[in-house]
Amino acid sequence: MRTLKMGALGLGQGASWSLLSMDAMPEIELVAGADLNPAMRSGFSDHFPAARTYETAEELFRDPAVDAIWIGTPNRLHCEHAVAAMRSGKHVVVEKPMAVTLEDADRMVEASQKFGVILLAGHTRSLSIWNRAMRRIVMSGEIGAIRAIHIWSYTDWILRPRTPDELDPQQGGGIVFRQGPHQIDTLRLLGGGMLRSVRGMAGRWTDSRPIEGYYTAYLEFEDGTASTIMHNGYGYFAMASLYPWVREKRGYSDADRAALRRDLERGVRDESAEKERYRVGGAHDPVAGAKAQPVTPYPWNPFDLGPVEVACERGMLMPAQWGLTVYGDDGPRELDLRPLQRPEPDPSGGLSIAILEEFHAAVILGKPAYHTAAWGRATLEASLAVMQSAAERREITLTRQVAMPDAYDAALDSGLNVAAG
Ligand SMILES: NC(=O)c1ccc[n+]([C@@H]2O[C@H](COP(=O)([O-])OP(=O)(O)OC[C@H]3O[C@@H](n4cnc5c(N)ncnc54)[C@H](O)[C@@H]3O)[C@@H](O)[C@H]2O)c1
Repeated sequence: MRTLKMGALGLGQGASWSLLSMDAMPEIELVAGADLNPAMRSGFSDHFPAARTYETAEELFRDPAVDAIWIGTPNRLHCEHAVAAMRSGKHVVVEKPMAVTLEDADRMVEASQKFGVILLAGHTRSLSIWNRAMRRIVMSGEIGAIRAIHIWSYTDWILRPRTPDELDPQQGGGIVFRQGPHQIDTLRLLGGGMLRSVRGMAGRWTDSRPIEGYYTAYLEFEDGTASTIMHNGYGYFAMASLYPWVREKRGYSDADRAALRRDLERGVRDESAEKERYRVGGAHDPVAGAKAQPVTPYPWNPFDLGPVEVACERGMLMPAQWGLTVYGDDGPRELDLRPLQRPEPDPSGGLSIAILEEFHAAVILGKPAYHTAAWGRATLEASLAVMQSAAERREITLTRQVAMPDAYDAALDSGLNVAAG
């Protein structure tokens, strides 16, 4: 099988985990990386000595051996980098949020069509095996038609180190831009994709962080399916503490959170140095640690997404430690998802493997792409609508929604023992 030769643009915190996934997948070859920061470049070449290292995006895009680019640069640059990469003939996976404005997302959709390349919107957390299995069970009709989806999360998102652009909503800063797309992409996957309207609220609750750290929204699908999302990132309570098997491997302790909150209020944190530790080559860079080994099985963990609850006419779906609990007319049944897990170097959150598998299948094997530019634009439209609705205190009607084809993940059905209905 021909491998997909990838270059990574932006070797920061998010990319550190995706690089591990690329490195672990035989169908992907990580051939190059680029970052403006020399520390990241040096970490990258230490970890991947066979790959080429560049300073700028332009040099990376000129590399003829690179088929495709993983864009992990800051949000404000996603559109510019994606369009330039596509103009150079490269296929693209872009980190979430796909862009900062709908106009930029339009340019990305157009560029993908004009240059005849694939752009996938990498909303990685929506693609966990738990969410994908839930979707196939919903589609099987086992517990009737889907009626409601709820995804609520409590994390310490606001306490994590931030660069100045992450503190500027104009540049894609704030929890709605950063975390909204994960939850919205998940519920769109489960509900079929076609949202009708959004009523949202977002909150900035502390002067020490001039960005939103909370949002909630009611999103209704065209067929009347209801959904709610909520993310409280202020760090007073962690959703993960509700689940006895979950250890927060990368999270802060209660004492850490109290100290970070005090330091933020006093303005004494060196966030630039803190963040650098998590980037490629930094002290907490996962690429360097024992965590680099792909593992399976790994248990469910709410991480930043939160638990996904699906209500159907004749039952419920809830995540469980090793799979799902399907509550139906005859009582609950446990569904073990371990046999469907692929060894993943990043069970703790990034979950890049599913999008990379789709990418390889589309670019190299000519299979359909599902998380396309138009799909990503629809998730961005709903994320922006949460902010617009919050500002204007009214319901926003959506116009750019697209459906997820039934064929997506049909191959999972035999493993789940369901027949698509
Ligand atoms: N999917 C996930 O779970 C996940 C997790 C974390 C971050 N992310 C996403 O990754 C992106 C980056 O976030 P981060 O937290 O990793 O930030 P970061 O600051 O750690 O990483 C960005 C990197 O891009 C580099 N960079 C900036 N401008 C550049 C340019 N013009 N050319 C080349 N390199 C450039 C920076 O030097 C830095 O190393 C964001 O879009 C974020 O939403 C996704």
